Amino acid sequence: MDGNGRWAKQRGKDRVYGHFEGVESVRAVMEASVEWGIRYVSFFAFSEENWGRPESEVNTLMELMASAMVRELDNFQRNNIRFVVVGNLARLSESLRQGIDHLMSVTAANDRMTMIVFLSYSGQWDILQAAQKMAHDLIENPGREVRPEDFTRHLVTAGFPDPDLLIRTSGEKRISNFMLWQTAYTEFVFTDTLWPDFRRESYRAALEEYASRDRRFGKIK
Ligand code: IPE
Ligand code: MG
Repeated sequence: MDGNGRWAKQRGKDRVYGHFEGVESVRAVMEASVEWGIRYVSFFAFSEENWGRPESEVNTLMELMASAMVRELDNFQRNNIRFVVVGNLARLSESLRQGIDHLMSVTAANDRMTMIVFLSYSGQWDILQAAQKMAHDLIENPGREVRPEDFTRHLVTAGFPDPDLLIRTSGEKRISNFMLWQTAYTEFVFTDTLWPDFRRESYRAALEEYASRDRRFGKIK
């Protein structure tokens, strides 16, 4: 989700205004995903690098997430949506962590769709923390063969399928330390649309572009 700040600036408003409007795009994408039978939707909400933004913006983003979680509880239950947050959560405030834990446990058995929010996340951090756990395993079983699936069970996305499609908004064409391992065969769609303008129609267009791709996974037809 990129382009909130530029969206606000274009309107002569504070960056925060773009984040508020961006929440509405999350809601629109969630609603369409439920309707269209998407099983997993991930949102890169806040990166490890985003901690380097001014404290006031960081605080606003955290408050925005905390309030959205409280507000959306009914919606998750009504639509049978499981809510999951992954990332370096030790950096979050105690109260936000409690809010996340609560929503995650209350929605844990929901199975129509899973919403995964990446918070305080970076792909390199994920690989490092997985490697650390892997090293621990190897100390207990020296010389054991390590297959990719032995490694992926230590990533924070363990148990979730790798993403089929990654959409980046706002015209930037880079991965910015998102799921580095998990996107090995992901299809990428880049759109100039700024995140606050990314609603149902933009989402549909991205899915249509995805549907036209020929995925060979390194093999031949
Ligand atoms: C995305 O919008 C939101 C977050 C990264 C939290 P930006 O805040 O990056 O918006 P731009 O890139 O400055 O327009
Ligand atoms: Mg940005």
